[in-house]
Amino acid sequence: MWSGRTVFILAAIGSAVGLGNIWRFPYVAYSNGGGSFIVPYLIALLTAGIPLLFLDYALGHRFKGSPPLAFRRLKKPTEFLGWWQVGICFVIAVYYAVIIAWALRYVFFSFNEAWGDDPATFFGEDFLKQDSSSSFGLDFVPGVVFPLLLVWIATLVILGLGVQKGIGASAKFFVPVLIALFGVLVVRSLFLEGANIGLDAFFHPDWSALTDSSVWIAAYGQIFFSLSVGFGIMITYSSYLKRRTNLTGSGLVVGFTNSGFEMLAGIGVFATLGYMASISGVPVAEVVDSGIGLAFIAFPTIISSMPGGPFFGVLFFVSLLFAGFTSLISIVQVCVAAVQDKLGIGRVPAVIGVGGSMTVVSLLLFPTATGLNTLDIVDNFANNIGIVSVALIAVVTVTWVLRRLPEMQDHLNAVSSFKVGIVWRVFLGVITPIVLAYMLINEVVTRINDGYNDLPNGLVTAFGWAAQGLIVVVAILLTFTPWRRSADDLEYTPEHDAPDTTKVGEYS
Ligand code: ALA
Repeated sequence: MWSGRTVFILAAIGSAVGLGNIWRFPYVAYSNGGGSFIVPYLIALLTAGIPLLFLDYALGHRFKGSPPLAFRRLKKPTEFLGWWQVGICFVIAVYYAVIIAWALRYVFFSFNEAWGDDPATFFGEDFLKQDSSSSFGLDFVPGVVFPLLLVWIATLVILGLGVQKGIGASAKFFVPVLIALFGVLVVRSLFLEGANIGLDAFFHPDWSALTDSSVWIAAYGQIFFSLSVGFGIMITYSSYLKRRTNLTGSGLVVGFTNSGFEMLAGIGVFATLGYMASISGVPVAEVVDSGIGLAFIAFPTIISSMPGGPFFGVLFFVSLLFAGFTSLISIVQVCVAAVQDKLGIGRVPAVIGVGGSMTVVSLLLFPTATGLNTLDIVDNFANNIGIVSVALIAVVTVTWVLRRLPEMQDHLNAVSSFKVGIVWRVFLGVITPIVLAYMLINEVVTRINDGYNDLPNGLVTAFGWAAQGLIVVVAILLTFTPWRRSADDLEYTPEHDAPDTTKVGEYS
């Protein structure tokens, strides 16, 4: 259990604030209307992100378990939804760890700007030793294998220490330090020459973008991944909360802190890109990039050209490392907790068994000369098809098939300061499913018609479609395997059905 609400909030913020905030948000906002993106973004946060976060909290807290157990206690056959979420977490964790390992190496590369004059060639050829054949291979790159192993060992040690002593204690350290370091980075970026040009490009509104459905999809997609909702993390984390905990109040803190961090990242990244545009005399549009390109190519280029570059580089890559690490911990914990629940085994054997197999898969697939392409495909399918489909089916199941939303509402209201009502039910029961279904159909049609990024079809089929399909099959099979817990334990009756005697202001 968490020792209190603060540590839970810190861990939930640690999970939410991740790579998605630092490298994904700035570019998504910029390329979807700039300043005007704030409108669909806030609407997505309020109509889907926070409502779904509340639902995850309610499920985890009411049914006190990892996703498979929580869903089983909700209604037996829905156990497979929990395993599906666990499968997605497995897949995300095995590549997410690789990016953290790159960030770890880049902290050290920053000291002497090891990338020299050509960060793009350095990243692709010298560091990743990429094979341009783009098929699948097993040529391991030791420069990635060792930091990756280190990232996994650190993650498993923290998980092995347990919820409070491991995850909670690490969140208490990493989250404040991350916010402080990133704050320094953003302030520094604002004093760079040309920062105003970057900020102008970032905030310049294009109101016509609001009529474009893809802009709205981008806003909802960003919110789901960034808040860590819909794939089991928040169900798991909220299951460790004490009986009377202000759930919705905590959710609002987590949701707005995550978005605040995201805005800060947008400001820092674009102020820095403005500097690059100004010294190279080209428009910001020519220097922007997203994700891997932004972090491992554009930023090193800028770091090399700025006064005090190594210091700025260390700040940036340590921020990326810490933000990613606290998210990775939460993703792996979902898998560990699920196996612990199902087999009734202790934490340490579960961490060794589950975490160990994740480490092996991660080491086999990604730190290779062809790992970048595999990573790219797995990332795209896990986020845009995996998370979206399981979130859609879970929401529809709870709201329309089982009609349990009123029960979840009562649960939240019995323990929380901020009460939810009909508006919450409409957001979850109507708006969220419509948006998720639209996103899913759109993505599936595009992938079928266009493949993925000109990558070979065989690779896309194996690591995209087949991997997602396999998760669903395994989830169904696991639902039919027996639990090693007593029947009484499985037929658990939720607490909180007792009348609420807490007085206003007494929420913990
Ligand atoms: N929420 C995490 C992120 O933004 C997964 O990266």
